[in-house]
Amino acid sequence: MATKELLFVVDTDIPHRKMMVGWLQDQGYRVKVFDNGELCLNMLDENPDAICLDINMSAGLDILKRLKLANRDIPVLVVTENEAVDSAVEAMKIGAFDYMAKPVDKVRLKINVERAIEMHTMVNKIQRLQGELKETYSYKNIIGQSDAMKQVFAQIDEVSAININVFVHGESGTGKELVAKALHFNSAYKAGDFVAINCGAIPEELQENEFFGHEKGAYTSADDSRMGKLEVANGGTLFLDEVGEMPPKMQVKLLRFLQDKSFERVGSNKKIHVDLRIISATNKDLENAVRQGKFREDLYYRLVVYSVFIPPLRKREEDIPILINHFLKKYKSDISKKITTVSSYALEALVRYTWPGNVRQLENEIYRAMVSTRTDTIQIENLSPEIQKFREGHVGEDNRFIPVPDNQESASTVIPVPMAQPLSSSISPATRPTFNEIEKHAFLEALNRTNGNVPQAAKDLGISRATFYRKIKKFRSVN
Ligand SMILES: Nc1ncnc2c1ncn2[C@@H]1O[C@H](COP(=O)(O)OP(=O)(O)OP(=O)(O)O)[C@@H](O)[C@H]1O
Ligand SMILES: [Mg+2]
Repeated sequence: MATKELLFVVDTDIPHRKMMVGWLQDQGYRVKVFDNGELCLNMLDENPDAICLDINMSAGLDILKRLKLANRDIPVLVVTENEAVDSAVEAMKIGAFDYMAKPVDKVRLKINVERAIEMHTMVNKIQRLQGELKETYSYKNIIGQSDAMKQVFAQIDEVSAININVFVHGESGTGKELVAKALHFNSAYKAGDFVAINCGAIPEELQENEFFGHEKGAYTSADDSRMGKLEVANGGTLFLDEVGEMPPKMQVKLLRFLQDKSFERVGSNKKIHVDLRIISATNKDLENAVRQGKFREDLYYRLVVYSVFIPPLRKREEDIPILINHFLKKYKSDISKKITTVSSYALEALVRYTWPGNVRQLENEIYRAMVSTRTDTIQIENLSPEIQKFREGHVGEDNRFIPVPDNQESASTVIPVPMAQPLSSSISPATRPTFNEIEKHAFLEALNRTNGNVPQAAKDLGISRATFYRKIKKFRSVN
């Protein structure tokens, strides 16, 4: 059965309050009574669906103002003394949903509460839809142009609409949660909630409660019943983060749940059936955990029906420049500085660095660099010292190729180059130009012609971008 709505009644007039509460409970509402506005304000986290507030009690209007300031969109029905028209008008100005004169009429109370709840439900729904829109958009915010990321996008397209359990793995900070959300918001379960449980962060003894919830009296401290995450996620997606950390006892319980998608709250033997999608993730080697007997094999096969692997950032360097552009745009308004470019040295260092913390670390680095730069460009000295070391000439004896960003619009994708001198003036007439000099001239000339646009320059010369970059490196080291 759906839980009936929760109402708060704040009134110091005990006989009148008792009468209202009795009527409301007869309608099946859960009612909490307060004889003090402060207490009510402290309990807003319980998210009541409506509040009935007597504004004739001391500081009644002040409590109403603070309820509105709390900005929870909870409708407040005020109760006024029959003759206190002024305070009713004042209450409506502050934002009361409606007012009722004392003694409150039973039918009017019923109708007003129903309207208030209807409005609250609608506001919640609109907010959820807005959030959903934002999140759907965030699928577009998974940035990547590497083949590896293209494969991830194709996998999201392939499985988001099918209700199979998906397992997302990759190092820390590679975007596992982002992918899980994209799967959710592109699935049939998107109308429900995306509910995450971090299996590594919840103490073992609390996990059962977290998953299944409890009934009142299940423990000495359980003075109220509470829904578990499985119930909250009903109709939506349950995201099991760090699933490899799940304690063995909980693994057995989860397996039992997966067999028929039903469970009991702690302290109850009533079966609750839910329909939800499960996505799990880990940055650890789950197969190895299975081999070592730390993770149940039967559970592994239930969770890993389809798996998506997100490679570490150092294995997809070509994503780095567009991620940088993405973060420059993302934090532009936060930082209120106009930073549009990254110097070529800084870009080189950022591309060559090995990013143990992956995209999360890159995001933090760009944010930090944006804060520290005083110009419109992120320079090598704005980067963390360990990243600065990766600038060409310091590291990179392995001759790693520096990829070229594809996006041509941003200045950060354009490598500044020295002007090419006409061949005749740069070489003494007495000496014949060496092959190297001719080659270098052709490169500089192509770069000048294309305003430093490497892909175009490489194309003009009929060579690959990789070769182009190797040559530039060679010319720089000769200088
Ligand atoms: N491809 C991407 N495009 C844009 N932002 C990304 C991308 N990948 C990761 N991020 C950003 O990096 C941060 C970390 O991502 P997320 O939390 O999804 O990583 P994770 O793999 O779950 O990490 P952990 O294993 O530490 O939990 C987030 O701020 C996310 O928005
Ligand atoms: Mg995560």
